[in-house]
Amino acid sequence: MKKILDLITAEVTKAFTSCGYHEKYGKVTLSNRPDLCEYQCNGAMAAAKEYKKAPFLIADEIAKKLSDNEMFLAAESVKPGFLNLKLDPVYLAGYLQEMKQDQERFGCEKAENPRLIMLDYGGPNVAKPLHVGHLRSAIIGESIKRIGRFMGHTMIGDVHLGDWGLQMGLIITELKERKPQLVYFDEGYEGEYPAEAPFTISELEEIYPTASAKSKDDAVYKEAAMQATYELQHGRKGYQALLSHILNVSVTDLKRNYENLNVSFDLWKGESDAQPYIPDMVQKMKDDGYAYISEGALVVDVKEETDTKEIPPCMILKSDGASLYNTTDLATIVNRMEEYHPDEIIYIVDKRQELYFTQVFRCAQKTHLVEESTKLRFLGFGTMNGKDGKPFKTREGGIMRLEHLLSEINEEMYQKIADNHTMDENEARETAKIVALSAVKYGDLSNQASKDYIFDIDRFTSFEGNTGPYILYTIVRIKSILAKYQALGKDTKEAKILPAQTASEKALMLELTGFSAAMEAAFLEAAPHRVCAYIYGLANALNHFYHETKILAEEDETAQAGYICLLELTKGVLEACIDVLGFSAPERM
Ligand code: ARG
Repeated sequence: MKKILDLITAEVTKAFTSCGYHEKYGKVTLSNRPDLCEYQCNGAMAAAKEYKKAPFLIADEIAKKLSDNEMFLAAESVKPGFLNLKLDPVYLAGYLQEMKQDQERFGCEKAENPRLIMLDYGGPNVAKPLHVGHLRSAIIGESIKRIGRFMGHTMIGDVHLGDWGLQMGLIITELKERKPQLVYFDEGYEGEYPAEAPFTISELEEIYPTASAKSKDDAVYKEAAMQATYELQHGRKGYQALLSHILNVSVTDLKRNYENLNVSFDLWKGESDAQPYIPDMVQKMKDDGYAYISEGALVVDVKEETDTKEIPPCMILKSDGASLYNTTDLATIVNRMEEYHPDEIIYIVDKRQELYFTQVFRCAQKTHLVEESTKLRFLGFGTMNGKDGKPFKTREGGIMRLEHLLSEINEEMYQKIADNHTMDENEARETAKIVALSAVKYGDLSNQASKDYIFDIDRFTSFEGNTGPYILYTIVRIKSILAKYQALGKDTKEAKILPAQTASEKALMLELTGFSAAMEAAFLEAAPHRVCAYIYGLANALNHFYHETKILAEEDETAQAGYICLLELTKGVLEACIDVLGFSAPERM
Protein backbone atom coordinates (compact mmCIF):
# COMPACT_ATOMS: atom_id res chain seq x y z
CA MET A 1 0.00 0.00 0.00
CA LYS A 2 1.15 3.51 -0.69
CA LYS A 3 1.93 5.63 2.35
CA ILE A 4 -0.85 8.02 3.29
CA LEU A 5 1.34 11.11 2.90
CA ASP A 6 2.31 10.02 -0.60
CA LEU A 7 -1.33 9.53 -1.56
CA ILE A 8 -2.28 12.95 -0.22
CA THR A 9 0.73 14.56 -1.88
CA ALA A 10 -0.28 12.97 -5.18
CA GLU A 11 -3.75 14.54 -5.00
CA VAL A 12 -2.45 17.96 -4.03
CA THR A 13 0.21 17.78 -6.73
CA LYS A 14 -2.49 17.05 -9.29
CA ALA A 15 -4.31 20.16 -8.12
CA PHE A 16 -1.16 22.25 -8.51
CA THR A 17 -0.40 21.01 -12.02
CA SER A 18 -3.97 21.34 -13.23
CA CYS A 19 -3.87 24.99 -12.11
CA GLY A 20 -0.71 25.43 -14.16
CA TYR A 21 1.90 25.25 -11.40
CA HIS A 22 4.95 23.05 -11.15
CA GLU A 23 4.44 19.67 -9.53
CA LYS A 24 7.21 20.24 -7.00
CA TYR A 25 4.92 22.52 -4.98
CA GLY A 26 2.46 19.80 -4.06
CA LYS A 27 4.39 18.26 -1.18
CA VAL A 28 2.26 17.60 1.90
CA THR A 29 3.51 17.09 5.45
CA LEU A 30 1.96 16.29 8.80
CA SER A 31 0.50 19.43 10.31
CA ASN A 32 2.56 21.25 12.87
CA ARG A 33 -0.70 22.80 14.13
CA PRO A 34 -2.77 19.69 14.87
CA ASP A 35 -5.33 21.97 16.51
CA LEU A 36 -6.08 23.49 13.09
CA CYS A 37 -5.63 20.67 10.63
CA GLU A 38 -4.20 17.21 10.08
CA TYR A 39 -1.92 17.84 7.11
CA GLN A 40 -0.54 20.90 5.47
CA CYS A 41 1.02 22.05 2.22
CA ASN A 42 3.22 25.13 2.11
CA GLY A 43 3.83 24.93 -1.64
CA ALA A 44 1.90 28.08 -2.47
CA MET A 45 4.37 30.13 -0.42
CA ALA A 46 7.24 28.92 -2.56
CA ALA A 47 5.30 29.02 -5.82
CA ALA A 48 4.43 32.67 -5.19
CA LYS A 49 8.02 33.66 -5.91
CA GLU A 50 8.26 31.77 -9.18
CA TYR A 51 4.85 32.86 -10.49
CA LYS A 52 5.01 36.38 -9.01
CA LYS A 53 1.56 36.04 -7.51
CA ALA A 54 0.30 36.48 -3.97
CA PRO A 55 0.66 33.15 -2.12
CA PHE A 56 -2.85 33.40 -0.80
CA LEU A 57 -4.27 33.54 -4.32
CA ILE A 58 -2.46 30.37 -5.25
CA ALA A 59 -3.47 28.56 -2.06
CA ASP A 60 -7.05 29.64 -2.72
CA GLU A 61 -7.02 28.22 -6.24
CA ILE A 62 -5.69 24.90 -4.98
CA ALA A 63 -8.21 24.78 -2.15
CA LYS A 64 -11.06 25.31 -4.66
CA LYS A 65 -9.69 22.59 -6.90
CA LEU A 66 -9.62 20.17 -3.94
CA SER A 67 -13.03 21.15 -2.60
CA ASP A 68 -14.87 18.29 -4.25
CA ASN A 69 -12.10 15.74 -3.82
CA GLU A 70 -13.43 12.81 -1.80
CA MET A 71 -10.13 12.36 0.01
CA PHE A 72 -10.66 15.56 1.98
CA LEU A 73 -13.18 16.69 4.50
CA ALA A 74 -11.67 20.15 4.30
CA ALA A 75 -9.04 21.86 2.18
CA GLU A 76 -8.70 25.44 3.33
CA SER A 77 -6.41 28.23 2.35
CA VAL A 78 -5.27 30.41 5.19
CA LYS A 79 -3.27 33.60 5.12
CA PRO A 80 -0.60 34.23 4.14
CA GLY A 81 -0.80 31.20 1.83
CA PHE A 82 -0.98 27.89 3.63
CA LEU A 83 -3.15 25.01 2.67
CA ASN A 84 -4.72 23.20 5.64
CA LEU A 85 -6.06 19.74 5.05
CA LYS A 86 -8.34 17.32 6.87
CA LEU A 87 -8.97 13.80 5.69
CA ASP A 88 -12.46 12.62 4.95
CA PRO A 89 -13.51 10.04 7.57
CA VAL A 90 -14.91 7.71 4.90
CA TYR A 91 -11.67 7.77 2.98
CA LEU A 92 -9.67 7.26 6.18
CA ALA A 93 -11.78 4.27 7.24
CA GLY A 94 -11.28 2.72 3.80
CA TYR A 95 -7.52 3.16 4.04
CA LEU A 96 -7.42 1.49 7.45
CA GLN A 97 -9.65 -1.35 6.31
CA GLU A 98 -7.16 -2.06 3.56
CA MET A 99 -4.32 -2.00 6.11
CA LYS A 100 -6.23 -4.43 8.27
CA GLN A 101 -6.74 -6.90 5.44
CA ASP A 102 -2.97 -7.13 5.05
CA GLN A 103 -2.73 -9.17 8.22
CA GLU A 104 0.99 -9.27 8.83
CA ARG A 105 2.37 -6.18 7.16
CA PHE A 106 -0.55 -3.77 7.64
CA GLY A 107 0.13 -2.17 4.29
CA CYS A 108 3.86 -1.65 4.78
CA GLU A 109 5.55 -2.53 1.50
CA LYS A 110 8.78 -4.46 1.37
CA ALA A 111 11.83 -2.79 -0.11
CA GLU A 112 11.85 -2.80 -3.90
CA ASN A 113 15.55 -3.60 -3.98
CA PRO A 114 16.34 -5.85 -1.05
CA ARG A 115 19.87 -5.51 0.22
CA LEU A 116 22.17 -7.94 1.98
CA ILE A 117 23.24 -6.29 5.19
CA MET A 118 25.62 -7.70 7.78
CA LEU A 119 25.38 -6.53 11.35
CA ASP A 120 28.34 -6.65 13.68
CA TYR A 121 26.88 -6.47 17.17
CA GLY A 122 27.11 -8.07 20.57
CA GLY A 123 30.90 -8.13 20.56
CA PRO A 124 31.38 -10.04 23.83
CA ASN A 125 34.79 -11.27 24.86
CA VAL A 126 35.11 -14.96 25.65
CA ALA A 127 35.89 -16.06 29.20
CA LYS A 128 34.50 -12.80 30.53
CA PRO A 129 30.93 -12.61 31.73
CA LEU A 130 28.55 -10.26 29.93
CA HIS A 131 28.17 -7.03 31.81
CA VAL A 132 25.98 -3.97 31.38
CA GLY A 133 28.44 -2.55 28.85
CA HIS A 134 27.34 -5.26 26.44
CA LEU A 135 23.65 -4.58 26.80
CA ARG A 136 23.23 -1.74 24.35
CA SER A 137 24.98 -3.35 21.39
CA ALA A 138 22.87 -6.48 21.79
CA ILE A 139 19.55 -4.68 22.18
CA ILE A 140 20.08 -2.11 19.43
CA GLY A 141 21.64 -4.57 16.98
CA GLU A 142 18.86 -7.09 17.44
CA SER A 143 16.24 -4.43 16.77
CA ILE A 144 17.95 -3.11 13.64
CA LYS A 145 18.20 -6.67 12.37
CA ARG A 146 14.48 -7.20 12.90
CA ILE A 147 13.50 -3.85 11.38
CA GLY A 148 15.57 -4.67 8.29
CA ARG A 149 13.97 -8.09 7.96
CA PHE A 150 10.53 -6.59 8.28
CA MET A 151 11.40 -4.26 5.42
CA GLY A 152 12.37 -7.25 3.29
CA HIS A 153 16.15 -7.08 3.47
CA THR A 154 18.47 -9.99 4.16
CA MET A 155 20.03 -9.26 7.52
CA ILE A 156 22.90 -11.39 8.83
CA GLY A 157 23.88 -10.85 12.44
CA ASP A 158 27.40 -11.75 13.51
CA VAL A 159 28.36 -11.71 17.20
CA HIS A 160 32.05 -11.08 16.43
CA LEU A 161 33.50 -12.62 19.58
CA GLY A 162 36.62 -11.17 21.11
CA ASP A 163 38.54 -14.46 21.13
CA TRP A 164 42.04 -13.52 20.09
CA GLY A 165 44.94 -11.95 21.85
CA LEU A 166 46.51 -11.79 25.27
CA GLN A 167 43.40 -12.86 27.19
CA MET A 168 43.79 -16.36 25.72
CA GLY A 169 47.47 -16.54 26.65
CA LEU A 170 46.61 -15.45 30.17
CA ILE A 171 44.05 -18.20 30.63
CA ILE A 172 46.45 -20.80 29.24
CA THR A 173 49.24 -19.62 31.54
CA GLU A 174 47.08 -19.72 34.64
CA LEU A 175 45.76 -23.14 33.73
CA LYS A 176 49.30 -24.40 33.27
CA GLU A 177 50.25 -23.18 36.75
CA ARG A 178 47.27 -24.95 38.28
CA LYS A 179 47.25 -28.19 36.28
CA PRO A 180 50.66 -28.65 34.61
CA GLN A 181 49.97 -32.36 34.16
CA LEU A 182 47.24 -31.76 31.53
CA VAL A 183 48.11 -33.21 28.11
CA TYR A 184 47.60 -29.83 26.48
CA PHE A 185 50.94 -28.71 27.90
CA ASP A 186 52.88 -31.78 26.77
CA GLU A 187 54.59 -30.79 23.54
CA GLY A 188 55.42 -34.37 22.69
CA TYR A 189 51.78 -35.47 22.95
CA GLU A 190 50.56 -37.08 19.73
CA GLY A 191 47.14 -38.45 20.67
CA GLU A 192 43.63 -37.04 20.57
CA TYR A 193 42.76 -34.32 23.05
CA PRO A 194 39.91 -34.99 25.49
CA ALA A 195 36.43 -33.94 24.35
CA GLU A 196 35.59 -32.58 27.79
CA ALA A 197 36.93 -29.14 28.76
CA PRO A 198 39.27 -29.11 31.79
CA PHE A 199 37.21 -26.32 33.41
CA THR A 200 33.62 -25.14 33.90
CA ILE A 201 32.27 -21.72 33.01
CA SER A 202 32.50 -20.51 36.61
CA GLU A 203 36.13 -21.65 36.84
CA LEU A 204 36.85 -19.91 33.56
CA GLU A 205 35.27 -16.71 34.78
CA GLU A 206 37.45 -16.86 37.86
CA ILE A 207 40.66 -17.86 36.02
CA TYR A 208 40.69 -14.92 33.65
CA PRO A 209 40.53 -12.04 36.18
CA THR A 210 43.00 -13.86 38.44
CA ALA A 211 45.47 -14.22 35.59
CA SER A 212 44.90 -10.68 34.43
CA ALA A 213 45.59 -9.31 37.92
CA LYS A 214 48.71 -11.45 38.36
CA SER A 215 50.16 -10.31 35.04
CA LYS A 216 49.94 -6.70 36.19
CA ASP A 217 52.48 -7.08 38.96
CA ASP A 218 54.43 -10.12 37.84
CA ALA A 219 56.61 -9.45 34.78
CA VAL A 220 57.68 -13.08 34.41
CA TYR A 221 54.07 -14.22 34.47
CA LYS A 222 53.15 -11.61 31.88
CA GLU A 223 56.03 -12.71 29.68
CA ALA A 224 54.82 -16.31 29.91
CA ALA A 225 51.31 -15.22 28.91
CA MET A 226 52.66 -13.33 25.93
CA GLN A 227 54.72 -16.33 24.91
CA ALA A 228 51.66 -18.59 25.21
CA THR A 229 49.66 -16.13 23.08
CA TYR A 230 52.40 -16.18 20.48
CA GLU A 231 52.55 -19.97 20.42
CA LEU A 232 48.78 -20.24 20.23
CA GLN A 233 48.72 -17.85 17.32
CA HIS A 234 51.47 -19.77 15.61
CA GLY A 235 49.69 -23.06 15.69
CA ARG A 236 50.76 -24.91 18.86
CA LYS A 237 48.33 -27.83 18.87
CA GLY A 238 47.71 -28.24 22.60
CA TYR A 239 46.94 -24.55 22.95
CA GLN A 240 44.61 -24.59 20.01
CA ALA A 241 42.76 -27.47 21.60
CA LEU A 242 42.47 -25.37 24.77
CA LEU A 243 41.20 -22.43 22.73
CA SER A 244 38.36 -24.53 21.34
CA HIS A 245 37.44 -25.63 24.87
CA ILE A 246 37.45 -22.02 26.05
CA LEU A 247 35.27 -21.07 23.10
CA ASN A 248 32.80 -23.92 23.57
CA VAL A 249 32.32 -23.33 27.26
CA SER A 250 32.04 -19.57 26.79
CA VAL A 251 29.73 -19.65 23.81
CA THR A 252 27.30 -22.04 25.53
CA ASP A 253 27.08 -19.59 28.39
CA LEU A 254 26.82 -16.54 26.12
CA LYS A 255 24.01 -18.14 24.13
CA ARG A 256 22.03 -18.74 27.30
CA ASN A 257 22.50 -15.13 28.35
CA TYR A 258 21.54 -13.69 24.99
CA GLU A 259 18.51 -15.96 24.87
CA ASN A 260 17.28 -14.37 28.07
CA LEU A 261 17.47 -11.06 26.24
CA ASN A 262 15.64 -12.49 23.22
CA VAL A 263 18.74 -11.75 21.16
CA SER A 264 20.15 -14.22 18.65
CA PHE A 265 22.90 -14.31 16.07
CA ASP A 266 23.13 -16.00 12.71
CA LEU A 267 26.89 -16.27 12.93
CA TRP A 268 29.03 -17.05 15.93
CA LYS A 269 32.28 -16.03 14.36
CA GLY A 270 35.09 -14.42 16.21
CA GLU A 271 38.31 -12.54 15.78
CA SER A 272 40.14 -15.86 15.53
CA ASP A 273 38.22 -16.75 12.36
CA ALA A 274 39.74 -13.76 10.60
CA GLN A 275 43.36 -14.76 11.26
CA PRO A 276 43.84 -16.99 8.18
CA TYR A 277 43.04 -13.99 5.97
CA ILE A 278 45.73 -11.75 7.42
CA PRO A 279 48.92 -12.84 5.57
CA ASP A 280 47.51 -12.46 2.04
CA MET A 281 45.75 -9.25 2.93
CA VAL A 282 48.90 -7.71 4.33
CA GLN A 283 50.97 -8.86 1.37
CA LYS A 284 48.52 -7.30 -1.06
CA MET A 285 48.49 -4.01 0.82
CA LYS A 286 52.27 -3.95 0.52
CA ASP A 287 52.33 -5.02 -3.13
CA ASP A 288 49.78 -2.39 -4.10
CA GLY A 289 51.90 0.24 -2.41
CA TYR A 290 49.39 1.22 0.28
CA ALA A 291 51.20 -0.12 3.31
CA TYR A 292 54.60 1.20 4.34
CA ILE A 293 56.90 1.00 7.34
CA SER A 294 56.73 3.91 9.74
CA GLU A 295 58.73 3.81 12.98
CA GLY A 296 59.02 0.05 12.55
CA ALA A 297 55.28 -0.56 12.21
CA LEU A 298 53.39 -1.30 9.01
CA VAL A 299 50.78 1.40 8.39
CA VAL A 300 48.35 2.72 5.78
CA ASP A 301 47.67 6.45 5.58
CA VAL A 302 44.00 7.26 5.87
CA LYS A 303 43.87 11.02 6.30
CA GLU A 304 41.91 13.04 3.80
CA GLU A 305 42.23 16.66 2.69
CA THR A 306 38.84 17.63 4.01
CA ASP A 307 39.58 16.35 7.53
CA THR A 308 39.11 18.96 10.20
CA LYS A 309 40.88 16.87 12.81
CA GLU A 310 43.93 14.68 12.64
CA ILE A 311 43.18 11.10 11.55
CA PRO A 312 46.28 9.01 12.35
CA PRO A 313 47.41 6.24 9.97
CA CYS A 314 45.79 2.82 10.34
CA MET A 315 48.32 0.44 11.88
CA ILE A 316 48.37 -2.95 10.18
CA LEU A 317 51.21 -4.76 11.96
CA LYS A 318 53.21 -3.85 15.04
CA SER A 319 56.99 -3.59 14.78
CA ASP A 320 57.32 -7.17 16.06
CA GLY A 321 55.04 -8.32 13.25
CA ALA A 322 52.10 -8.98 15.57
CA SER A 323 48.61 -8.19 14.36
CA LEU A 324 46.23 -5.84 16.16
CA TYR A 325 42.53 -5.19 16.69
CA ASN A 326 42.62 -3.23 13.39
CA THR A 327 44.22 -6.08 11.49
CA THR A 328 41.55 -8.46 12.70
CA ASP A 329 38.71 -6.12 11.78
CA LEU A 330 40.16 -5.59 8.31
CA ALA A 331 40.65 -9.33 7.78
CA THR A 332 37.09 -9.90 8.99
CA ILE A 333 35.93 -7.56 6.22
CA VAL A 334 37.89 -9.67 3.71
CA ASN A 335 36.18 -12.78 5.03
CA ARG A 336 32.73 -11.19 4.94
CA MET A 337 33.18 -9.97 1.38
CA GLU A 338 34.38 -13.37 0.27
CA GLU A 339 31.68 -15.40 1.96
CA TYR A 340 28.63 -13.13 1.88
CA HIS A 341 29.38 -10.22 -0.39
CA PRO A 342 27.24 -7.78 1.65
CA ASP A 343 25.94 -4.48 0.25
CA GLU A 344 26.46 -2.97 3.66
CA ILE A 345 28.04 -3.78 7.02
CA ILE A 346 26.74 -1.98 10.09
CA TYR A 347 28.82 -1.97 13.27
CA ILE A 348 26.91 -1.38 16.48
CA VAL A 349 29.68 -0.49 18.89
CA ASP A 350 30.36 1.96 21.72
CA LYS A 351 30.73 5.43 20.22
CA ARG A 352 34.14 5.79 21.85
CA GLN A 353 35.42 3.55 19.06
CA GLU A 354 34.34 5.98 16.35
CA LEU A 355 37.80 7.24 15.36
CA TYR A 356 39.05 3.68 15.27
CA PHE A 357 36.29 2.68 12.86
CA THR A 358 36.91 5.74 10.70
CA GLN A 359 40.47 4.47 10.26
CA VAL A 360 39.40 0.90 9.56
CA PHE A 361 36.70 1.91 7.04
CA ARG A 362 38.97 4.28 5.18
CA CYS A 363 41.72 1.70 5.06
CA ALA A 364 39.32 -0.97 3.76
CA GLN A 365 38.04 1.40 1.07
CA LYS A 366 41.42 2.70 0.05
CA THR A 367 43.00 -0.74 -0.23
CA HIS A 368 39.91 -2.10 -2.04
CA LEU A 369 38.99 -4.76 0.48
CA VAL A 370 35.43 -3.66 -0.32
CA GLU A 371 33.79 -2.41 -3.49
CA GLU A 372 33.06 1.24 -4.15
CA SER A 373 29.39 0.56 -3.56
CA THR A 374 29.85 -1.34 -0.28
CA LYS A 375 28.57 0.77 2.55
CA LEU A 376 30.43 0.59 5.86
CA ARG A 377 28.44 2.18 8.59
CA PHE A 378 29.35 2.86 12.19
CA LEU A 379 26.49 3.13 14.61
CA GLY A 380 28.04 4.35 17.83
CA PHE A 381 25.96 4.19 20.98
CA GLY A 382 26.28 6.24 24.13
CA THR A 383 26.84 5.10 27.69
CA MET A 384 24.23 3.65 29.96
CA ASN A 385 24.56 5.70 33.14
CA GLY A 386 23.27 5.28 36.66
CA LYS A 387 21.10 7.89 38.38
CA ASP A 388 24.27 9.71 39.41
CA GLY A 389 25.05 10.36 35.74
CA LYS A 390 28.12 8.11 35.83
CA PRO A 391 28.46 4.75 34.06
CA PHE A 392 26.09 2.25 35.60
CA LYS A 393 27.62 0.29 38.50
CA THR A 394 26.54 -2.12 41.22
CA ARG A 395 25.67 -0.65 44.61
CA GLU A 396 29.17 -1.55 45.72
CA GLY A 397 30.60 0.34 42.76
CA GLY A 398 31.67 -2.71 40.74
CA ILE A 399 30.83 -3.71 37.21
CA MET A 400 27.31 -5.08 37.07
CA ARG A 401 26.89 -8.46 35.42
CA LEU A 402 24.11 -8.53 32.90
CA GLU A 403 22.55 -11.56 34.56
CA HIS A 404 22.34 -9.74 37.87
CA LEU A 405 20.84 -6.66 36.30
CA LEU A 406 18.15 -8.73 34.63
CA SER A 407 17.29 -10.69 37.74
CA GLU A 408 17.00 -7.47 39.74
CA ILE A 409 14.51 -6.10 37.26
CA ASN A 410 12.64 -9.39 37.04
CA GLU A 411 12.27 -9.33 40.81
CA GLU A 412 11.09 -5.72 40.85
CA MET A 413 8.51 -6.53 38.18
CA TYR A 414 7.43 -9.68 39.97
CA GLN A 415 6.73 -7.69 43.15
CA LYS A 416 4.55 -5.27 41.21
CA ILE A 417 2.60 -8.01 39.52
CA ALA A 418 2.28 -10.15 42.64
CA ASP A 419 0.87 -7.11 44.47
CA ASN A 420 -2.12 -7.20 42.13
CA HIS A 421 -3.01 -10.74 43.34
CA THR A 422 -4.56 -11.68 40.03
CA MET A 423 -2.39 -14.62 39.07
CA ASP A 424 -0.69 -17.61 40.58
CA GLU A 425 3.02 -17.56 41.36
CA ASN A 426 4.08 -19.28 38.12
CA GLU A 427 2.15 -17.04 35.83
CA ALA A 428 3.29 -13.99 37.77
CA ARG A 429 6.94 -15.05 37.38
CA GLU A 430 6.55 -15.69 33.65
CA THR A 431 4.68 -12.44 33.12
CA ALA A 432 7.25 -10.53 35.16
CA LYS A 433 10.01 -11.78 32.85
CA ILE A 434 8.17 -10.66 29.74
CA VAL A 435 7.33 -7.24 31.14
CA ALA A 436 10.80 -6.74 32.62
CA LEU A 437 12.38 -7.36 29.24
CA SER A 438 10.14 -4.72 27.70
CA ALA A 439 11.22 -2.32 30.46
CA VAL A 440 14.92 -2.81 29.76
CA LYS A 441 14.68 -2.84 25.99
CA TYR A 442 12.24 0.01 25.58
CA GLY A 443 14.14 2.05 28.16
CA ASP A 444 17.18 1.71 25.95
CA LEU A 445 15.66 1.83 22.47
CA SER A 446 13.42 4.83 23.07
CA ASN A 447 16.54 6.99 23.25
CA GLN A 448 18.45 7.98 20.19
CA ALA A 449 21.25 5.37 20.19
CA SER A 450 24.12 7.84 20.03
CA LYS A 451 23.03 9.58 23.25
CA ASP A 452 23.95 8.55 26.79
CA TYR A 453 20.96 7.68 28.93
CA ILE A 454 20.15 7.10 32.55
CA PHE A 455 19.13 3.59 33.47
CA ASP A 456 16.33 4.28 35.92
CA ILE A 457 14.66 1.07 37.07
CA ASP A 458 11.77 2.87 38.75
CA ARG A 459 10.91 4.82 35.66
CA PHE A 460 11.50 1.98 33.18
CA THR A 461 9.28 -0.45 35.08
CA SER A 462 6.43 2.02 35.53
CA PHE A 463 3.13 1.17 33.86
CA GLU A 464 2.66 4.83 33.03
CA GLY A 465 4.56 7.17 30.80
CA ASN A 466 6.84 6.46 27.89
CA THR A 467 7.84 2.93 28.96
CA GLY A 468 7.77 -0.64 27.70
CA PRO A 469 5.31 -1.78 30.38
CA TYR A 470 2.91 1.03 29.35
CA ILE A 471 2.97 -0.21 25.76
CA LEU A 472 2.37 -3.79 26.92
CA TYR A 473 -0.39 -2.63 29.24
CA THR A 474 -2.09 -1.03 26.25
CA ILE A 475 -1.86 -4.24 24.23
CA VAL A 476 -3.16 -6.29 27.16
CA ARG A 477 -6.05 -3.86 27.52
CA ILE A 478 -7.00 -4.45 23.89
CA LYS A 479 -6.64 -8.21 24.28
CA SER A 480 -8.97 -8.15 27.23
CA ILE A 481 -11.66 -6.18 25.35
CA LEU A 482 -11.38 -8.52 22.39
CA ALA A 483 -11.73 -11.55 24.65
CA LYS A 484 -14.82 -10.09 26.33
CA TYR A 485 -16.34 -9.30 22.96
CA GLN A 486 -15.76 -12.87 21.85
CA ALA A 487 -17.19 -14.19 25.10
CA LEU A 488 -20.45 -12.43 24.15
CA GLY A 489 -20.55 -14.84 21.22
CA LYS A 490 -19.75 -12.14 18.67
CA ASP A 491 -17.18 -11.88 15.92
CA THR A 492 -16.06 -9.32 13.33
CA LYS A 493 -16.02 -11.58 10.26
CA GLU A 494 -18.56 -9.45 8.42
CA ALA A 495 -17.56 -6.18 10.04
CA LYS A 496 -15.46 -3.28 8.82
CA ILE A 497 -13.70 -0.27 10.21
CA LEU A 498 -16.26 2.54 10.06
CA PRO A 499 -15.82 6.29 9.58
CA ALA A 500 -14.80 8.01 12.82
CA GLN A 501 -17.60 9.57 14.86
CA THR A 502 -15.50 11.41 17.41
CA ALA A 503 -12.26 13.34 17.57
CA SER A 504 -10.51 10.72 19.67
CA GLU A 505 -11.51 7.99 17.26
CA LYS A 506 -10.23 9.96 14.30
CA ALA A 507 -7.01 10.77 16.13
CA LEU A 508 -6.42 7.06 16.71
CA MET A 509 -7.13 6.34 13.06
CA LEU A 510 -4.71 9.00 11.88
CA GLU A 511 -1.99 7.57 14.13
CA LEU A 512 -2.53 4.14 12.60
CA THR A 513 -1.92 5.47 9.09
CA GLY A 514 1.64 6.40 10.09
CA PHE A 515 2.80 2.80 10.54
CA SER A 516 4.69 2.23 7.30
CA ALA A 517 6.32 5.66 7.36
CA ALA A 518 7.60 4.97 10.87
CA MET A 519 9.03 1.58 9.90
CA GLU A 520 10.62 2.94 6.79
CA ALA A 521 12.26 5.82 8.65
CA ALA A 522 13.47 3.46 11.38
CA PHE A 523 15.15 1.31 8.76
CA LEU A 524 16.72 4.12 6.76
CA GLU A 525 18.11 5.83 9.82
CA ALA A 526 18.88 2.54 11.61
CA ALA A 527 16.89 4.10 14.43
CA PRO A 528 14.67 1.91 16.62
CA HIS A 529 13.71 5.01 18.62
CA ARG A 530 11.52 5.96 15.64
CA VAL A 531 9.43 2.85 16.26
CA CYS A 532 9.24 3.65 19.99
CA ALA A 533 8.10 7.21 19.33
CA TYR A 534 5.49 5.90 16.94
CA ILE A 535 4.00 3.33 19.32
CA TYR A 536 4.01 5.74 22.23
CA GLY A 537 1.82 8.09 20.18
CA LEU A 538 -0.35 5.21 19.05
CA ALA A 539 -0.77 3.82 22.57
CA ASN A 540 -1.74 7.27 23.86
CA ALA A 541 -4.30 7.67 21.09
CA LEU A 542 -5.73 4.24 21.83
CA ASN A 543 -6.07 4.92 25.53
CA HIS A 544 -7.66 8.28 24.91
CA PHE A 545 -10.17 6.68 22.56
CA TYR A 546 -10.83 3.92 25.08
CA HIS A 547 -11.58 6.38 27.88
CA GLU A 548 -13.98 8.39 25.73
CA THR A 549 -15.85 5.56 24.10
CA LYS A 550 -18.31 2.94 25.35
CA ILE A 551 -17.10 -0.09 23.48
CA LEU A 552 -18.46 -3.18 25.16
CA ALA A 553 -21.56 -1.29 26.30
CA GLU A 554 -22.30 0.03 22.81
CA GLU A 555 -25.82 -1.02 21.79
CA ASP A 556 -25.50 -0.48 18.08
CA GLU A 557 -24.00 -3.78 16.95
CA THR A 558 -22.58 -2.39 13.72
CA ALA A 559 -20.89 0.51 15.45
CA GLN A 560 -19.54 -1.85 18.10
CA ALA A 561 -18.15 -4.26 15.53
CA GLY A 562 -16.49 -1.29 13.83
CA TYR A 563 -14.77 -0.34 17.08
CA ILE A 564 -13.61 -3.90 17.57
CA CYS A 565 -12.14 -3.93 14.07
CA LEU A 566 -10.26 -0.75 14.87
CA LEU A 567 -8.92 -2.32 18.07
CA GLU A 568 -7.83 -5.43 16.19
CA LEU A 569 -5.85 -3.32 13.77
CA THR A 570 -4.28 -1.32 16.59
CA LYS A 571 -3.26 -4.50 18.36
CA GLY A 572 -1.74 -5.92 15.18
CA VAL A 573 0.28 -2.79 14.53
CA LEU A 574 1.48 -2.51 18.13
CA GLU A 575 2.51 -6.16 18.13
CA ALA A 576 4.39 -5.84 14.84
CA CYS A 577 6.25 -2.88 16.34
CA ILE A 578 7.25 -4.52 19.61
CA ASP A 579 8.33 -7.56 17.65
CA VAL A 580 10.90 -5.49 15.76
CA LEU A 581 11.97 -3.96 19.06
CA GLY A 582 12.65 -7.50 20.27
CA PHE A 583 10.03 -8.12 22.96
CA SER A 584 6.49 -9.44 23.22
CA ALA A 585 3.31 -8.94 25.22
CA PRO A 586 1.83 -11.28 27.85
CA GLU A 587 -1.84 -12.33 27.86
CA ARG A 588 -2.54 -10.30 30.98
CA MET A 589 -0.61 -8.29 33.51
N1 ARG B 1 34.95 -7.02 21.61
C1 ARG B 1 35.00 -5.61 21.37
C2 ARG B 1 35.02 -4.85 22.70
O1 ARG B 1 34.73 -5.41 23.73
C3 ARG B 1 33.85 -5.11 20.55
C4 ARG B 1 33.82 -5.63 19.15
C5 ARG B 1 33.18 -4.67 18.22
N2 ARG B 1 33.17 -5.12 16.86
C6 ARG B 1 34.22 -5.05 16.05
N3 ARG B 1 34.11 -5.53 14.84
N4 ARG B 1 35.35 -4.51 16.41
O2 ARG B 1 35.34 -3.68 22.68
